[in-house]
Amino acid sequence: MVLTTRPRGTNDILPGETEKWQFVESAFRNICGRYGYAEIRIPMFEHTELFLRGVGETTDVVEKEMYTFTDRGGRSITLRPEGTASTVRAFLEHKLFAQPLPAKMYYAGPMFRYGRPQAGRLRQFHQVGVEVLGAKDPAVDAEVITLAMDFYGELGLQGLELRVNSVGCPHCRPAHRERLKEFLRPVLGELCDTCQGRYERNPMRILDCKSPRCQELVAEAPTTTVSLCSECDRHFRQVLKCLDQVGVNYTVDQHLVRGLDYYTNTTFEIVAAGIGAQSSIGGGGRYDGLVEECGGAPTPGIGFALGLERILLAMEDQNISIPVAEAMEVFVATIGPEGEAEAFRVLTELRRSGIRAEKDFMGRSLKAQLKHAGKFRARYTVFLGGEEFTRGAVSVRDMVKGIQEEVALKNLTTYLRQGLAL
Ligand code: HAM
Repeated sequence: MVLTTRPRGTNDILPGETEKWQFVESAFRNICGRYGYAEIRIPMFEHTELFLRGVGETTDVVEKEMYTFTDRGGRSITLRPEGTASTVRAFLEHKLFAQPLPAKMYYAGPMFRYGRPQAGRLRQFHQVGVEVLGAKDPAVDAEVITLAMDFYGELGLQGLELRVNSVGCPHCRPAHRERLKEFLRPVLGELCDTCQGRYERNPMRILDCKSPRCQELVAEAPTTTVSLCSECDRHFRQVLKCLDQVGVNYTVDQHLVRGLDYYTNTTFEIVAAGIGAQSSIGGGGRYDGLVEECGGAPTPGIGFALGLERILLAMEDQNISIPVAEAMEVFVATIGPEGEAEAFRVLTELRRSGIRAEKDFMGRSLKAQLKHAGKFRARYTVFLGGEEFTRGAVSVRDMVKGIQEEVALKNLTTYLRQGLAL
């Protein structure tokens, strides 16, 4: 059982599915290139301390969801639950701050969170994301958001809702927290247990609670944007203006509070209706205090991460067709032992010349080979063996035109390359 069943919350992505993943990932790499982002590859695991400090000790991710273990050297190690903390760590470790700023990076890969698995929520899931370090310009916030929205658009996704908010900075947030606590004090006993725990430690998360009763109780709560200091307010307005300029539609959602502690100023989330409860297909925001928190000089930062499983669910929900595996170009069928003896050599020659070619490896009869060949949807079938073979020639059938020709074996590669317009 254990040997043939994968761990709960993980997925095998099988041939036939992987093409879809490659399509989405390559669309992401492509757009990142156009926007001036270069790839960073960060480790799958880090010292646990990085996430405690980076993501924040009061977050669900750190409190309940980390895959943490002690390695053989006695160190506490955690499988990365997200990519921002590692990117910041790498920025500091490799002194990327000494290079011309901003540093604009993107990443793609698996993340690990021990949550309750359900549709769109996995324990090993996959994100693509970007991080920009060193620039405070509101146009960078808009660039990052626009990149995400253009990416979804290029995949063909429609009707997504972009929610944006500002959670302020360390100067204006304490006053907001106090205002919020004052508002909630009379109803504290009515909040769910989790929110009662959040009241002192992180009251803003109460705004984000999914319990219907809590949602009712916070419906009229003071919003973040009214508490913003003038600088945060100006920044937020400027971000919205830039988004207007490039026609990115958004809703200001003053109750949007993201689940990670590092956010300052702009936060955003993208929601796809139609994929169930786990409808957030991406999110991000500014984290102007994180580099300092990790031991660097004060450096602004902003980024996002998008969940690939949820993007693929949304594409499926919207019936967006994704390219399937590329067809083979040539199938080499063999007739008799003479043909079989040469088949591997001919096949390899074709492949080395740039042709996508396949043969049978299961000792099938000619009839069964041809049946099997259908699966590869090859344009040409080459028949190796038989009477022509004794004359140094092979039959080549064009499966599209339905015509068959005899070709000298020594000219086969050239003949096929011409036919395939290679
Ligand atoms: P996050 O909101 O925790 O942010 O995750 C971003 C996205 O990852 C979510 O919107 C969702 O699509 C996907 N996701 C998260 N958890 C799961 C899961 N268990 N199963 C499937 N998909 C999931 C971050 O991770 C931040 N690092 C984003 C960021 C980058 N902020 C600034 N820079």
